[in-house]
Amino acid sequence: MGREFDAHLQYLSVAAYLDSEGLPELARFFSGQASEEHLHAMKFWRYVLDAGGVPAIPALASPKSGFESVEEAVQLSLDQEKAVTRHIDNLVELSMQRGDHATHQFLTWFVTEQVEEVSTMSELLHVVRRAGEPNLLLVEDYVARKVAAGEGPQA
Ligand SMILES: [Fe+2]
Ligand SMILES: [Fe+2]
Repeated sequence: MGREFDAHLQYLSVAAYLDSEGLPELARFFSGQASEEHLHAMKFWRYVLDAGGVPAIPALASPKSGFESVEEAVQLSLDQEKAVTRHIDNLVELSMQRGDHATHQFLTWFVTEQVEEVSTMSELLHVVRRAGEPNLLLVEDYVARKVAAGEGPQA
């Protein structure tokens, strides 16, 4: 749950940077992504309650800000998605070791979601690299098309 809240804050920070750089479509994409991460954290929060526990909100680290380039911000986002995937995989392992079928079942949604998230972020990084910093307006078009096609963040 803490990792999802961390992702929420990190994406807000990335969105702020992109907005300040005059890239409104990318900024909108990342703030939508931030909202999704909040929903993910809330899924854990709800699940712990439903399972009879009391979710403890962990201390959250300040997200990184002050990026040097869009590529750096997107690379950080991809690295973060990969890290979240590892944490989800560890939770899946733990649920299997403990024979906790309910939690295992609950986590299945996150396993699928992470495949999607890592793929979206790697594709975006690829497009940003391909375009290069002087052509970021082409990336804006790409993101606008993805969002219009319903492939952006759903939140
Ligand atoms: Fe997430
Ligand atoms: Fe994510």
